[in-house]
Order: sequence, then C-alpha cells, then structure tokens
Amino acid sequence: MKDKIQHLKDKKKEALQGGGTARIDSQHKKGKLTARERLQLLLDEGSFQEIGMLVKHRSTDFGMENETYAGDGVVTGYGTIGGRTVYVFSQDFTVFGGSLSETYAEKICKIMDLALQNGAPIIGLNDSGGARIQEGVVSLGGYADIFYRNTLASGVIPQISAIMGPSAGGAVYSPAITDFTVMVKNTSYMFVTGPNVVKTVTHESVTAEELGGAETHASKSGVTHFACENELDAVEHIKRLLSYMPQNCEDLVPCLDYQIKNEHREVLNSVIPDNASQPYDMRLVIEELADPDSFMEVHRDFAENIVVGFARLAGRSIGIVANQPASLAGVLDIDASVKGARFVRFCDCFNIPLLVLEDVPGFLPGTDQEWNGIITHGAKLLFAFSEATVPRITVITRKAYGGAYCVMNSKHIGADMNFAWPSAEIAVMGAKGAAEIIFKKQISSAEDPEKEWLKKEKEYSDKFANPYRAAERGFIDEVIEPAETREKLIFAFKMLENKAVKLPKKKHGNIPL
Ligand code: COA
Repeated sequence: MKDKIQHLKDKKKEALQGGGTARIDSQHKKGKLTARERLQLLLDEGSFQEIGMLVKHRSTDFGMENETYAGDGVVTGYGTIGGRTVYVFSQDFTVFGGSLSETYAEKICKIMDLALQNGAPIIGLNDSGGARIQEGVVSLGGYADIFYRNTLASGVIPQISAIMGPSAGGAVYSPAITDFTVMVKNTSYMFVTGPNVVKTVTHESVTAEELGGAETHASKSGVTHFACENELDAVEHIKRLLSYMPQNCEDLVPCLDYQIKNEHREVLNSVIPDNASQPYDMRLVIEELADPDSFMEVHRDFAENIVVGFARLAGRSIGIVANQPASLAGVLDIDASVKGARFVRFCDCFNIPLLVLEDVPGFLPGTDQEWNGIITHGAKLLFAFSEATVPRITVITRKAYGGAYCVMNSKHIGADMNFAWPSAEIAVMGAKGAAEIIFKKQISSAEDPEKEWLKKEKEYSDKFANPYRAAERGFIDEVIEPAETREKLIFAFKMLENKAVKLPKKKHGNIPL
C-alpha cells in the first residue's frame, strides 16, 4: 500500500507541474499567473477540490502519443468564494498553450453539468491558444459541446468568464454567451481572427492589443464588462460581482443585515441644476441612494450615456439602470439600449430588483443611428423591461421625453412604483421643439416670430415641464422631495419583496435581436 500511495503522490505531483518549470517561468515572465495560482487567489483558502487531475489526451497524430500531461491543459473542480459553492475551470497555457482537446472539453463539460445540476455559479479562467490544432474537428466539437452547455445554463446559474491571456477564434464564443466577461489590460486579448488575418483580408494594420485588448473591448465593442489592471484585480472583480448574485435562478438575492436609520439625503435636493439643459453626474445620485460604497458599475467605459451596475439598498442587492446626463445628455442610442437591455435581463434572470433613474431627452437622431437599426436595438430595452418580473421602481429626476419615457421602465410597461422629483419634465418632447411644431403658423405670422416662439415655448413648458400631469393620471405614484428618495425606495422595495408575476405561457419570447 505504501508504494501505491507513493505512486499516487508522484502522479499528482506531476500534474501540479503542468507543462513544466520552463513554461511556468515563461508564463510568469509575460506577467501572467499559472492556472493553479489563479485558482488559489480566487477561491477561499483550502476550499479547492480538483476533478479530473489525471485526465490525458487520446490523440495519436503527429507524435502526440509521446507528449502527454496529467490534466491535459485545464484545471477543473469546485470550491467556495465567501463560503458559497462555485464550479471552476482554469486553462493552463503551459500545456499545449492551453489549447482545447477532446478530453479537455470533456473535463469542462463535466464541471458545467455539475454546476447546472447543483445550482451554483460557474467561473471560467481563460488563457488558451484555441482549438488544439493536432486534433482537428474533435477539438471543434469540444468547443460546441461547451457552447451548448453555456446556452442551457444561461439564466439558470450565473456564468462568469475571465480572459487572462489569448482567446481567439471559436474560443471567444463561450465567454460571449456567459453573463459577465472580465479582461486583464495588456495581457489578454479576444478576437475572432487575429492581426495577421485582418491584415490579409482588410489590409488594416492593427496590434493584438488594439484589435482585441481589454480596453478596446471595454470601451469600443462592449464585449467585456470590466478592463482590470492585473490578474489580482480581475479576480477581485469576480468575487465582488458574485457577492450581488444568488446561486441560481430559484435562489433569493443576497441580503446583508441592515437597520433602518435616518435615510434622509439632503444633498439630493441640490443635485439638479436650475438650467434644465445643464448636465450633472447621475453617479452622484446613485452614490447617495445606494448603501455606502456598495455601487459596482458594470460596462463603465462603454455607452457612457447609460449607467448600469449592482448596488445594495438597505443590505439587499439591486440592479441600477440610469440615464447619464453628463454624457450625450443621457440620450438613448444603439449601444446604450443594448447595454441596458442585457443588464436588465441578467437582473431579471436572477431575481435582482431593478431601480431605474431617469433623465432622458429621447433617442439619438441621425442617419448613423437609423441605418444601424436604433429601432430594433431600442426595442430591446423596451422588451427587456416589459418582460422583467422582478420588483421594478423608477425615479424620474428630470427629463422623460417621448418614446424614451415609455421605454425607461414606465408604469405602462409594468413598473411597480414610479416616483418623480418636482424637477421632472414628462412630455412628448422639450418645450422649444414642441412649440416650433404645434405653433408653427402663429410663430411665422407673428410680428416678432422670435418673441412669439419664446411665449409659446413658455406656454408649453408651464403645462408639461412638470410631473403633475402624469401624477394626475396615476402614471406617477408619488412626487417626492429628492432628499426622501432613499427612504421611499427602501420601503417600496420591502413592500415588493414577495412580488409574484406570471407571464403568459409561452416557449420563449422573441426579443428583437
Ligand atoms: N494547438 C496546439 N498547440 C498550441 C496551440 C494550439 N492551438 N496554440 C499554442 N500551442 C502551443 C505551441 O505549440 C507552444 O508549444 P510549446 O510550449 O511546446 O512550444 C505553446 O502552445 C505556446 O505557444 P506559443 O506560440 O509559443 O505562445 P505565444 O505566447 O508566443 O503565442 C498564441 C500564443 C495563442 C498567439 C499562438 O500560440 C497562436 O497563434 N496559437 C494558435 C492560435 C490558433 O490559431 N488557434 C486555432 C484557432 S481556434
């Protein structure tokens, strides 16, 4: 028995070496950690339990039978983060460049199946040269097996991908299906085809970092939700993200202990500028409304005209969607609509109540937006809010104009509580434009058209640039002083905590894609 135990120990020791010390050194020289070091940082100390440590590939082409590594390039298993179970896989670039073989894919699928059956989040740490070239289509099949499971798990358990090295070709589609993607600046990149292929096909010269680095995807494409400074930062982002989420779609959202105290926030009474066309930073409002330091912004650098993220309100996780008057006046465009819609749908999947802060002048006009389908993309946000069954509250701080009023979680599309500040302007459009259209004849035939326009603008503004018409109709449940908003929200979300809404029976809706 002693020999057998020693034999087992030797095998495990070999597996812990991955592709060997030289390749581990090379990984470190690139500023990257190894697959196992990453797991150590991610999981609670001593909690990691490995599955499939001794798996080896079965390939016999190109002399592959002579080069095998225990674990075959991916470390899989489960552990805990903050005491809660998570399933993990961590790709090991030191073994065949972390490339995906048939057995490697089987290991990941096994973990994914366990995560789905047991209702716990799955986290993938990606660092891979893509499909294992020596295995051909078998490896591609392995990818598709993973994508299929990503899709089945979508909306059932949270799925998070960290990109900590290359992720190219087919490899990008698993992270793309998962709920959140975290990238590391300067050491990770994602693209469907790399710079060489781009050069050949489109004659563009671009570096890997420019084409698919963390900052590119965080600001230009929106493919990643977070561009992190380093791997430790990326791991911290994952842990924090998870802290807002339940384990699965049937679980309740995490709620920390909280004693209601004085929730009055006087500073909110002076946030809105006297001049309605002057911007202000909606993040200031969010910081006052959320529990201190609890706001975690998602997609911070992408479509900055809408702010989305998680926060806690009296200890309970909520999702926030807010127009941002400090960027493009908070207008809704294609990117903002898609960003908002995706976030709303995530929250709705996982029972996270939604708070909407509204100051929106409408949808962005122009050929660029129209030709690229603002109609379809804007409809995504409308659809996402309309089908969300979680508690939903809206606070209109200032503008709520036109179709954007309907879209931004209005009463009409199922919001539960709609508050407005006295500064709210709920109308079809701004007073200046409205007067120009409906009083066109009077203005043009007036002795002093400019003066007449101003008069008519004031007339329209007096009538509609306020929240009271909407409140008279019950479209606004209460007009509140800004300083009392936090307290109102705490009580309203508490009132809604047992909300149960059933949508009409269907296979699934057909969100405009
Ligand atoms: N299949 C099999 N082995 C692979 C591989 C793949 N897809 N990608 C990398 N490797 C191996 C390399 O042969 C090398 O092996 P070695 O340690 O025995 O020398 C090791 O992984 C490291 O690769 P290397 O090219 O030296 O690393 P790098 O950091 O310079 O470059 C990549 C990384 C990912 C850019 C580069 O390896 C690459 O382009 N790989 C192929 C990507 C691809 O086209 N994949 C298929 C499409 S999905």
